[in-house]
Amino acid sequence: MCGIVAYIGNKPALPILIKGLRRLEYRGYDSAGVALMCDRKIERLRSVGKIENLEEKTKDSCLSGNIGIAHTRWATHGGVTEENAHPHFSTSGKLVIVHNGIIENYRELREKLKEKFEFKSETDTEVLVNLIESHYDGDLRLAVEKALLHVRGTYGLVAMHSDEPDKLVAARLGSPLVVGIDEDEFYIASDATPMLAYTKKVIFLEDGEVVEISNGKMETFNLKDESVTKCVEEIEWDDEQAEKQGYDHFMLKEIYDQPTVFEDAIRGRINMGDGTAHLGGLNMTDDEMRGIERIILIACGTASYAAMIGKYAFERLAGIPTEVDVASEFRYRDPIVNDKTLVFAISQSGETADTLAAVREAKRKGAFVRGVVNVVGSTIARETDGGSYIHAGPELAVASTKAYTNMVAIMTLYALQFGRLKRITPATGQRLIKALLEIPEKMNSILKQTDEIKKIAEKYKDSRDFMYLGRGINFPVALEGSLKLKEISYIHAEAYPAGEMKHGPIALLSPEFPVFALMTKNQLYEKTRSNIEEVRARDTKVILIANEGDENAKELADDVIYIPPTMELLEPLLNTIPLQIFAYHMAVLLEKDVDRPRNLAKSVTVE
Ligand code: F6R
Repeated sequence: MCGIVAYIGNKPALPILIKGLRRLEYRGYDSAGVALMCDRKIERLRSVGKIENLEEKTKDSCLSGNIGIAHTRWATHGGVTEENAHPHFSTSGKLVIVHNGIIENYRELREKLKEKFEFKSETDTEVLVNLIESHYDGDLRLAVEKALLHVRGTYGLVAMHSDEPDKLVAARLGSPLVVGIDEDEFYIASDATPMLAYTKKVIFLEDGEVVEISNGKMETFNLKDESVTKCVEEIEWDDEQAEKQGYDHFMLKEIYDQPTVFEDAIRGRINMGDGTAHLGGLNMTDDEMRGIERIILIACGTASYAAMIGKYAFERLAGIPTEVDVASEFRYRDPIVNDKTLVFAISQSGETADTLAAVREAKRKGAFVRGVVNVVGSTIARETDGGSYIHAGPELAVASTKAYTNMVAIMTLYALQFGRLKRITPATGQRLIKALLEIPEKMNSILKQTDEIKKIAEKYKDSRDFMYLGRGINFPVALEGSLKLKEISYIHAEAYPAGEMKHGPIALLSPEFPVFALMTKNQLYEKTRSNIEEVRARDTKVILIANEGDENAKELADDVIYIPPTMELLEPLLNTIPLQIFAYHMAVLLEKDVDRPRNLAKSVTVE
């Protein structure tokens, strides 16, 4: 979490930094700040709250300069105060840094430094900046390198020093940093989105690397001060994709992006003739694939619900026993993993610390580890030995929508690829592909119902509790629907497999505790229907997702959202969309900050 932006070039830095921070606000928005180099003097402005507060402050300032660093914070050490906001100065006021990550041994370091240095904040970052200062001897890069040898923890940092006014130094361990290159101008940021408007040429810093940019030149080193050669890569995303394009919120735009990005995810990866899929990044021979005895899907939050859907696909199509593990639990339970295990790490950001830790643990134990990731060049994408990008494009709303859909799409394709190798016929594969190709049109028909779903949200906006129910493949959909509602509208929402209600949770229900249930026409339709009848008998209000033409649904529910049918395995690709739209409208009606819900950040880079 926390977002870093820095610029060094010929243009005024401030507007670039503020615009860049806006792009990174999803990484945290407790406070923000900026520092600019102006005639050998560093000027700084900080503000509690969102970027707009900082921007407002800069209007009354005379901040100027062509070199600067900026930060948006998600608090870890120290409360949400201006004192704790970045950038942080060293005691001399000559050195300033922005930092993303956690310095685990900061107390120890602070004890050692406190005789010579004064600390004004409670942050680990202020310890870090003074540690760098304690090694400064006229060369900022060397000071950074030497200081970092004493640090335990994670960092992405950018530093500048007023004695070397034409220089930026950045370093990475565990927290991502990308450098954008536009001839003799350079951008540094936690991801590529702040630089998309200026350049597509980037380098991704690796752990333990330090970059120095000065007088239009960039050089990369390791912590032993040895020179490192980097490859310049080209980013495909464009700036327009990262804009709201007329929608009120990024979340709504991203919900509407789904039909298009779903097509992007499957394009070039299916083969109708053979009834199979081919994801080149799997990097496994047919024999290795046949030898897989177990699949483990590791992920967090929404990505873990997408993984639960993937489990159905792998077991049904490929007959391979599949487990889903929440990444933060995986490595602490001493998982049984060997060279017959295939682990998929599923992550939108590709930076989630828990998922990354699980990747490392699974690799250490000898499993095949592959990534299903959205952000190109992200740490998980690079640390796994293959995998696939989900091609959802930049997802900027904190609540994930289109990335979830594309994770489901990619896992379905992997399951098909394994399935065709192991047991299913070309005809079965072709049926699945045909159904996949129909999904975008069906998604569009659901999106056309946004106004009706909004009317339903208006009826329920005063409810303080919700129960989401689904069975089989619709249980993870219920979990995802309830997560969307709670995270952006702060309404308490639970999700249960519908068949579990009678074992306890049904006691919660009352006319004030509405139920949102998924009752589409799959093999569990009749069973689900009986469960809804049990709920209905408790005088509870019911909203149902049902398939077009299902007249029974009307008798069982106060409100029905009709959606087109599809194959059971693909139902989540459609059934989740009305739940996303419902949660969105609830949050808007309750006047919540839809794109930046309280206490959250999009990229969770702390364990
Ligand atoms: C919820 C949400 C989170 C993420 C989770 C994992 O809407 O977005 O639950 O799914 O933090 O993030 P990634 O996919 O980046 O690993």
